[in-house]
Amino acid sequence: MKTYDVAVLVGSLRRESTNRKLATALTRVAPPALRFRTVALDELPMYNGDLEGQRPESVNHFTEQCAAAEAFLMVMPEYNRSLPAVLKNAIDWGSKPMDRNVWRDKPVVMAGTSPGAIGTAVGQQHLRQIMGILGASVLGGEAYLSFKPEMIDAQGDFADESTRNFMAAYMGRFAVFVSKLVGP
Ligand code: FNR
Repeated sequence: MKTYDVAVLVGSLRRESTNRKLATALTRVAPPALRFRTVALDELPMYNGDLEGQRPESVNHFTEQCAAAEAFLMVMPEYNRSLPAVLKNAIDWGSKPMDRNVWRDKPVVMAGTSPGAIGTAVGQQHLRQIMGILGASVLGGEAYLSFKPEMIDAQGDFADESTRNFMAAYMGRFAVFVSKLVGP
C-alpha cells in the first residue's frame, strides 16, 4: 500500500496546547496510508526580507521538511477571528522565494479548537483563503470544535464516539483526496 508523508503544523506554541492534543487525536483516527510527522514552528524567527540573503538554519530546516512532505495537516486555535501569527509566519517563510513555494499543489487538511462557541470557524476561513492563494489544495468541509476538557481522553483519543466518527470520516476523505492529487 502506498503511504503518504503528512507534515503536521500546530498553530500554538503552548506546552498544554489543546490544538496539539487535537492534532494527535486526528492522526490516530486517520487511515494508515497517512504517515504523520510534526514540524516544529517554535524556532522560526519572524519573517524579515533582510534574512533572505542567508536564511537562518531554523528556516532552512523548516522549509526542507515542508518541501519533502506530500501533504499537510494544519491545526490551530483562532486568534482575534484569524490565524495565530506563529502559523502565518511559518506559511510566509514557506511561500518564499516564489519559485520554491513549499505549499503549491500540496493537499491540506485543517482543523482547530477553541473554547469559543464557533471554535475557530472564522480563523479557518482566513487560513483556507491564504492556502488557496498559495496554490495549495484545501480539503472541503469543516472541522472545528468548541473545546471541552473531556473532548480528548487521558490516552489522547477522542472520548466521544460521534466526534471520533466525524473526525475519522474527515481524515478518511483527506486520505482519498491525497491519493487523487499525489497519485496512487
Ligand atoms: C484567543 N482566543 C480566541 N478564541 C476564539 O474562539 N476566537 C478568537 O478570536 C480568539 N482570540 C484570541 C486571541 C488571542 C491573542 C488569544 C491568546 C486567544 C482563545 C484561544 O482560541 C484559546 O486560548 C485556545 O484554546 C488556544 O489554543 P491552544 O493554545 O490551547 O492550542
